[in-house]
Amino acid sequence: MRLFGGSLAAAAAAGLALAAGAAASPAQHVFGPLHGSPGSGLGSSSGFPPARTADAGLADSGKWLRIESMAALPSYQLRIKQPSLCETNGTQYSGYLDTAEDRHFFFWFFEARNAKREDAPIMLWMNGGPGCSSFTGLLMEHGPCRVDEGGRSTTRNPHAWNDEAHIIFLDQPLNVGFSYGANVVDSYAAGKDVYGFLQLFYHSFPEYARGELHVFAESYGGHYVPATAKAIHEANVEFSARRSLGQLSAAELEKRVLPLASIGIGNGLTDPLVQYKYYSQMACNSTYPPVLDQAQCDRMDSAYPTCARLINACYKWQNVLACYPAEAYCNQALIAYQQSGANPYDVRIPCQGGNLCYPIMADIDAFLNTPAVQKELGSDVSKFESCSQKVYTGFMLSGDWMKPYVREIPPLLEAGIRVLVYAGDSDFICNWYGNKAWAEALEWSGHREFAAAPDMPWTVAGKPAGEVRSHKNFSFLRVFAAGHMVPYDQPANALDMVNRWMAKQPFH
Ligand SMILES: *[C@@H]1O[C@H](CO)[C@@H](O)[C@H](O)[C@H]1NC(C)=O
Ligand SMILES: *[C@@H]1O[C@H](CO)[C@@H](O)[C@H](O)[C@H]1NC(C)=O
Ligand SMILES: *[C@@H]1O[C@H](CO)[C@@H](O)[C@H](O)[C@H]1NC(C)=O
Repeated sequence: MRLFGGSLAAAAAAGLALAAGAAASPAQHVFGPLHGSPGSGLGSSSGFPPARTADAGLADSGKWLRIESMAALPSYQLRIKQPSLCETNGTQYSGYLDTAEDRHFFFWFFEARNAKREDAPIMLWMNGGPGCSSFTGLLMEHGPCRVDEGGRSTTRNPHAWNDEAHIIFLDQPLNVGFSYGANVVDSYAAGKDVYGFLQLFYHSFPEYARGELHVFAESYGGHYVPATAKAIHEANVEFSARRSLGQLSAAELEKRVLPLASIGIGNGLTDPLVQYKYYSQMACNSTYPPVLDQAQCDRMDSAYPTCARLINACYKWQNVLACYPAEAYCNQALIAYQQSGANPYDVRIPCQGGNLCYPIMADIDAFLNTPAVQKELGSDVSKFESCSQKVYTGFMLSGDWMKPYVREIPPLLEAGIRVLVYAGDSDFICNWYGNKAWAEALEWSGHREFAAAPDMPWTVAGKPAGEVRSHKNFSFLRVFAAGHMVPYDQPANALDMVNRWMAKQPFH
């Protein structure tokens, strides 16, 4: 770690949290992930954060409704509770997936509101960061309820994404939200844990196992989604092959082919090599008034060739030695935006609420730090942070940020898994220009047709909601008048988007 001593500090100063419930904790907020706790994380000699453990008295085995396991996954168990929170009459479950390696992932599940259908799909939702809890998405974006000002209560969300689908909010990677244990610092390792979680979830809740599975995430989820989908798809292929060869034991036959039908990435970081080229356009020459002056944007443009060279090296070697310098250099070039005072998740508005940029993030922390709420959910840990700086730091130090997760997407498309990339068009940090550019550049069998396809209007209730480009099972959707957190800014349109997508209806 000493090797990077100097540039680590620069990265810390320049690092961005792709918070996804975005708005990140003060310590963690875009461009200033370490402001909240000087001396921790990057400054320590090892760099890697310590494991987090259950708080004494909270990990009480008597609090669970049931504890499930399966012979096929002997080192895993699911502890399940049935809370009553979040303004919903529907069935909900919360609890932990535990592994023998001291990993404990927290989840919160809500049954579909309208799903009398037996084959209602399941959506798995993850927020980004890295290090931000998926409960920021739940309580700020598209969960059944939204947190009220002050964090003492919640209000029903009429545009919840569990309208037609069951939805699982999962706190991953480890030590995010209410999850705890030994650390994971790259998105592939995180993806394997999610596969194990889903196997046990389907086993424990066969009543929800008849529909399709959609894996959606936002922001740094542009890493998690391809990594998770790869883990699921490859395990499915291996499982099917061994089953047809009669190679599976009776125990292994308890597992199933997970019904992965689609993935969705909202304002994600998926192909940094392409995406880092578009920051200047978003800051100076977007469809909204410029945030920076042209000289500042010219400086960003002149930094891009070096940034691209470093990211190319990271794409080639995919190790920390090659990837860390790209993080440090390329993020440093974005500092002018932070200094402008604009919200990095929305060029239309200033960053409000101190480093949080969205005051609702503090309400989420307050709500989930209420002892009665934690007790109802069954949390084993007493401190909830919307975004964990330690997890963020671990991912930064591992070089995960700039890795080419985009390369996992073509095999999914070729296997018939549908792919939706959507982007609110006022976000800076994972802007729609960069997302559309990587979608057009993606190398797959439909590359040429997708690149040549027209952008069609997407309307909701007769009003323009965005633009869509589709070919076969690949769609890019630009969402008008939305920042990084699309469902927060455009709740009705965002619901139309996911309902149409899961129902396989076209957007135009
Ligand atoms: C819950 O059920 C009650 C009684 O059926 C109903 O009055 C109320 O509106 C429901 N609440 C929600 C949030 O659906
Ligand atoms: C601004 O964007 C427009 C449309 O994309 C482009 O034609 C123009 O060259 C850009 N201007 C600058 C200064 O980059
Ligand atoms: C598109 O997805 C469907 C599943 O929804 C699949 O059956 C079909 O083969 C896919 N098409 C292509 C061209 O990959």
